[in-house]
Formats: sequence, structure tokens, C-alpha cells
Amino acid sequence: MLLEIPDILSRDEVVLARQALAEAEWVDGRVTAGPQAAKVKRNAQVPEGHPTARALGDDILARLERTPLFISAALPLKVFPPLFNRYSGGQSFGTHIDTAIRQVPGTPHRVRTDLSATLFLSEPDEYDGGELMVEDSYGAHAVKLPAGSMVLYPASSLHDVRPVTRGERIGGFFWIQSMVRDDAQRTLLFDLDTAIQRLTTAAPGDPALVQLTGVYHNLLRRWADT
Ligand code: NI
Repeated sequence: MLLEIPDILSRDEVVLARQALAEAEWVDGRVTAGPQAAKVKRNAQVPEGHPTARALGDDILARLERTPLFISAALPLKVFPPLFNRYSGGQSFGTHIDTAIRQVPGTPHRVRTDLSATLFLSEPDEYDGGELMVEDSYGAHAVKLPAGSMVLYPASSLHDVRPVTRGERIGGFFWIQSMVRDDAQRTLLFDLDTAIQRLTTAAPGDPALVQLTGVYHNLLRRWADT
């Protein structure tokens, strides 16, 4: 599932985030890449655990906890603290698959990366190129969203970031370990939940809603780990 989640941050919040990031320290993005990805990764990153990254990341995670579309689609168990990157001057990130298991820095905790997320912090007209390309069985999809919006996609997907040939592309990125590891099962649950929400509005009080909600929870009980 490739899903756009609009307006995670407001326009004003994006401006504040950009100001904080402009004053942060930036290092070579290869610091968090595995050996294969390091060969094709060309960007800059705020170091893991940097106070600015931590503060902004906490705000983003707090926002996500109150975003029903994110909860329904990701069924999150653990979220890796967000990192922030910047592409400019022709930089890109060649085709790769994200590392499956990530250690949360300074902790004994590991996150299995079931889902990848990119939060766009630059407006599309601020830069040329920089599309996130995500491949699935239907081909490659180009994603370039308004600042403050986020895309969620399976971390098992081949993906790349096209060269940024003008301006700067700044974004947040992180991973989610889902209660439901399998993308196909998670997608079925998301579709079912979406249909239940629509019926709740269109036909409130219909006894079929009780039955469908029961099916949702019984599938979740069968497939979820906590
Ligand atoms: Ni990646």
C-alpha cells in the first residue's frame, strides 16, 4: 500500500521546522546507510540523536498518534525516531531497499521496518526533481507532496529519490514496526476499516456494522502481534 497522509504539519509548523533545521548541524547521509545503500546515497542528514531532530521528531510522533488515517493504515507498534535529510546540487538516492532491523540509538530497542515514511518539508515548487519513486507490482510511482504531507509505503519496496537539480528538498523520514507485519494483511484491514467508517456515516445503526466490526477485530486478533 502506498498512501498519502495530508497535513501532518500545518504551513506554520513547517516554517518553524525549517527554521530549526536550517540552524542544525548537517552531516553526510551515509552515516545511517547500510553497505549497499551507502554506495548510492548522496545527501545530507541531521545526525541521529541531535537535539533538533529529537524535538521535531517528538512533535511529529505526537501528531501521528492523533491521526486516525495513520493509525488505521500503519497499525503501529513501534516507530523509529524521525531523521531529517536534505538533497541539493544534483544529489539523489539510488535504488535500494531499507534495512530490515534498526537499533534505536542509545537504547537496547530494535525496530523491524515494516513501513517507511517520508514527511515532505519543502514545497514542490521549491525544487526540481527529488521525486520519491516507489516500485510495486504495478510499476514505479512518483511521489512529490506538499510540505507537511507524508507518504507511507512498504519498507520492502525498491525505491529511490531522483536527483534534485534545482533548489533544496528537505524531508523527514522514519520507519514503523506494525502490529501486522504482512503488507497484504495490513492492507485488507485498512480497506475493511475504511469501509466500516464510511458505513458508520452512511448507515449508522445498521446491524451489519456490528458484524463487520466484529470481523475486523477477529482478523486483527488473528494477525496482530503486540
Ligand atoms: Ni530508503
